[in-house]
Amino acid sequence: MRVLLLGASGYVGGGLYRDLSARHDVVGTRAARCVPGLVRLDLRDEWGLRELAGQGFDLVVHAAGLVDLAAAEADPALAQALNVRSVEVLLSAVRGTGTKLLLLSSDNVFDGTREFYVEPDLRAPLNVYGRTKCAAEDVLLEAAGEHLVVRIPLVYGRSPFSDRFMARFAAPTTPAQVDVVCAPVYLPSLAPALERLWDASGVLHYGGAEVVTRFALMSRIRDALRLPTRVIPARAADAPATPRRPARLVLRSLHHGLLGPDLETALADMRRGERH
Ligand SMILES: NC(=O)c1ccc[n+]([C@@H]2O[C@H](COP(=O)([O-])OP(=O)(O)OC[C@H]3O[C@@H](n4cnc5c(N)ncnc54)[C@H](OP(=O)(O)O)[C@@H]3O)[C@@H](O)[C@H]2O)c1
Repeated sequence: MRVLLLGASGYVGGGLYRDLSARHDVVGTRAARCVPGLVRLDLRDEWGLRELAGQGFDLVVHAAGLVDLAAAEADPALAQALNVRSVEVLLSAVRGTGTKLLLLSSDNVFDGTREFYVEPDLRAPLNVYGRTKCAAEDVLLEAAGEHLVVRIPLVYGRSPFSDRFMARFAAPTTPAQVDVVCAPVYLPSLAPALERLWDASGVLHYGGAEVVTRFALMSRIRDALRLPTRVIPARAADAPATPRRPARLVLRSLHHGLLGPDLETALADMRRGERH
């Protein structure tokens, strides 16, 4: 497959670039971060985006944008430009060419009041980031065609260019909420999952097998990797100024039985990676 991967320098995109490149012909893009081998592209350069996307790829995976919740809250116009407008431009660039679009979306399209969410559940985002992801989904889904939205939850594991998740262990202490629940996905499981799912169209969920609090997730990673960081129990209400976040996000699918590995399996894989 000829794949264009937007956001290959990022946390999720970096893992996808590493893993998909082993099996496909992948062109990856970056913006501010210098990564040799990646093509520099600013999503706001509509001509550049159109030109690149129109180069006859089988698939364009969109993993770029403004993902930090606080940054999106502080600059909704930028979040709209990167997360929504880029999808409109991509759609018009590939219309009639046979190129399929795969948009990575987020569990933040939901408000976190349900035990778990399946694809048709009502979206009710609590923050600007979630609202832009909803709008981007709508752009893609309103277009006739075979395009695909894959909603993913919190992702954990090591990534080659931007190790944003593991950076939380760099300080002597890291706070983690005891009252925020997730079913996180292990990054190396994402590329094989997308390969299994990418012939589908519409919206699909890909979630992790295990449901844990943020505190349990961080503590178990710390213990498994024998990191010196102290994980400090926190509550969501301790940081009232930050953007509102859903309290419980568990993604399940009506269309397939694919789930990311449980934590023990993922952590054993991470430990093996640390030794090499
Ligand atoms: N991380 C998660 O746990 C998670 C959970 C659910 C969904 N997702 C989704 O996964 C995707 C990737 O998220 P992530 O966590 O990997 O984010 P990230 O680490 O912040 O990466 C964002 C990517 O977008 C690029 N980018 C930023 N501004 C750009 C611009 N103006 N023009 C072009 N590219 C630009 C970045 O390039 P540079 O770094 O080179 O500037 C980077 O490659 C997003 O769609 C997000 O909604 C992530």
